[in-house]
Formats: sequence, structure tokens, C-alpha cells
Amino acid sequence: MKIFLVGMMGSGKTTLAKKISKVLSIPHIDIDDEIEKNENLKIKDIFEKYGEEYFRELESTILEKLAEKAHSFVVSTGGGIILSAKNRAILKKENAIYLKVIPEKLKERVSVENRPLLANNKENIIKIYKDRKELYEQFKTVDITNLTEWESVAKILYQYDI
Ligand code: S3P
Repeated sequence: MKIFLVGMMGSGKTTLAKKISKVLSIPHIDIDDEIEKNENLKIKDIFEKYGEEYFRELESTILEKLAEKAHSFVVSTGGGIILSAKNRAILKKENAIYLKVIPEKLKERVSVENRPLLANNKENIIKIYKDRKELYEQFKTVDITNLTEWESVAKILYQYDI
């Protein structure tokens, strides 16, 4: 069983992936962490030094590699993974779940720390959400806006019979 959590910055992908990993006893992989480890740089420094396009290439390469693997794991993806049509095609063949959270809640919850696209202003999350909404909604969707972390985990696992 491979599970890919997709969704906006601040939607809780990493926190919930960690919990799902515990419940199902499967490893957790965080694509941003993998990128930081491989490059030995923080995400914000990769954006600053090499630009977003370079970061997107690294992100896509990791996704491709994970999709080829046969064993079980749960992946927290970076919020922008769905921007590429190729990535969306890969994710649609996998168990990819969009964690939906209303933009006002995202704004409350998100930290600007190490999130270069927010440019130190939480308000930017609203426009990013609007720009991407349609892309996210192409995936199996679990609305977790008003749920606690454990309620969210239960909903993800039950709604899609994982
Ligand atoms: C991004 C989200 C980030 C990270 C990068 C770009 C995005 O991941 O991949 O800053 O484009 O939404 P999180 O969703 O884990 O914050």
C-alpha cells in the first residue's frame, strides 16, 4: 500500500503522514525532506540559489522514483507537486489523496518559515490556493477543515477504505 498525501502548504500533510505511518506501521517519506537531504540545503536556499524550476525537477525525480517502488509507505508531498501534468498523471495512478482545508484556515495555520513562495506574507496563501484549487480537486478529496489530527487520519483511512 502506497499513499501520497497532496494539498496546500499548511494543510497538515506531513503531520498526518507521520500519524498514518504509525497506525499502519509503514515508513513515512517526506519529499521536501528528501530534497533537503540530497542537496544539503534548505528548501528556501534551493529556491534562492537555483530557482523554482530546479526545485520542481528535483521534486518530480523523487516522485518518479517513489512511484516505481513496490513496497508500502506513506508520502507527504510538497504543495506544488500537482503543478506538473506529468506528476499529476503519476499521482492519479497511485493512491493520492487531497487534504482539503479552506483557505482562511490555511492562512491561520501556515508558517512562512522555509516557505519561499509565501515571501514572508501569509496572505499569499489565498491566491496560491485559488490558482491551484482545480488541480487539487482532480484527486480523491478528504475535507479535513474542521477535524482534529486523529479525526483526519480516521477519515482518510475510512473514506477510501485503506
Ligand atoms: C511548496 C510547498 C512546500 C515546498 C515548497 C513549495 C508549494 O511544501 O515543497 O516550498 O509550491 O506549495 P509544503 O506543502 O510541505 O509546505
